[in-house]
This record gives sequence, structure tokens and C-alpha cells, in this order.
Amino acid sequence: MKKKKIVIPKDDIANRVKQLGKAVTKDYTGTKLLVVGVMKGAFIFMADLVRQIDLPLEIDFIRAASYGRHTASSGNVTLTENAELSLADKDVLLVEDIIDTGRTAAYLKEILMALAPRSFKICALIDKKERREVPVDIDYKGFTVQEGFLVGYGLDFDEQHRNYPDIYTLDV
Ligand code: IMP
Ligand code: MG
Repeated sequence: MKKKKIVIPKDDIANRVKQLGKAVTKDYTGTKLLVVGVMKGAFIFMADLVRQIDLPLEIDFIRAASYGRHTASSGNVTLTENAELSLADKDVLLVEDIIDTGRTAAYLKEILMALAPRSFKICALIDKKERREVPVDIDYKGFTVQEGFLVGYGLDFDEQHRNYPDIYTLDV
């Protein structure tokens, strides 16, 4: 594994998260907002984002896993932990770390839509759209990154590096 290089410094992340929080606050005023984070990768983004949303809201988490190679989604996505709260009649905002092939988000949308939310939108910190295989509407997007495997700010490689404050590329 080669040395890592910073691609998104923590100050840029903080500024962008602030903007996203403002947009969400504006759009969701007067709704029944339920923010659903996808564990584990979104845990830091989610924590920062909700603190920039100036509205009453509920929080929940789901957990998704896709088995296969380490640096790419296998397409075999499963929900390994479901939401605890009822999604019915709520305005659900799904918070993801990265949309890469799009398979995870597409699968999660299908599963969560079956729970009859009043509305459903996706907020993703990073859009890696070069590798998209399944179309996904990203309603709130932090950054678009062309290529490379990213770690830090919640993102892992083999469960390591999640704790870095900045986002790095890793040459694996
Ligand atoms: P997708 O199903 O291909 O869109 O994969 C999405 C999931 O793969 C994300 O939620 C991440 O957990 C993981 N992932 C994709 N690219 C990266 C990366 O560059 N670094 C860390 N995790 C990634
Ligand atoms: Mg993930």
C-alpha cells in the first residue's frame, strides 16, 4: 500500500457540509424530517451534517454490506441492519458516504421506498460518477471525485483509516 495523498482537506469538507446543511434546512422546513445514515462509512459525515441542519429532525441508521473485492462494490448488496424508527409518512433523507457504481444506493432506495415514506431524497458526500453502473439521483452532493480509492472522514479500506480528519486517496 502506497503513501496517501490528501484530496479533500478538512476545511473544504467543513465548508461544504455547512452549505449542504443550509440547503437541507431550507428545503425541509415544515416537514417530518428523518435522517437515515448508512453505516459505517457515513457516520462522521452524518454527525457533522445534522449539526448544520437547523430543524427538528429524527435520526436513524441502517447498515448495508456488499461482499466482493475490497475496492469495488460486488453488486451483491444486502441490508444487514434495518432502521429502528418507522419511515411511514416521514420525509426521509438517506445519508451516504460515497455513491460509486450506484448499486448500494439503488438497492437501499428500493428497500426504503417500500416502507412508505412521504418523500425520499439522497445526500451523498462523494459522487464517483465515472464508475456508475446504475443511475442514482443525488439530491444533495458534497463533492465529485473522478477516480481513486478514498479513505478518511469515515471512509475505510479494510476497516482502517476511518479516523482521519481529511480525505485521502490510497494507491492499493
Ligand atoms: P456502490 O454500491 O458501488 O455505489 O458502492 C458504494 C459503497 O462502496 C459506499 O457506500 C462505500 O462504502 C464503498 N466505497 C465505494 N468507493 C469507495 C472508496 O473510494 N472508499 C471507501 N469506500 C468506498
Ligand atoms: Mg458505505
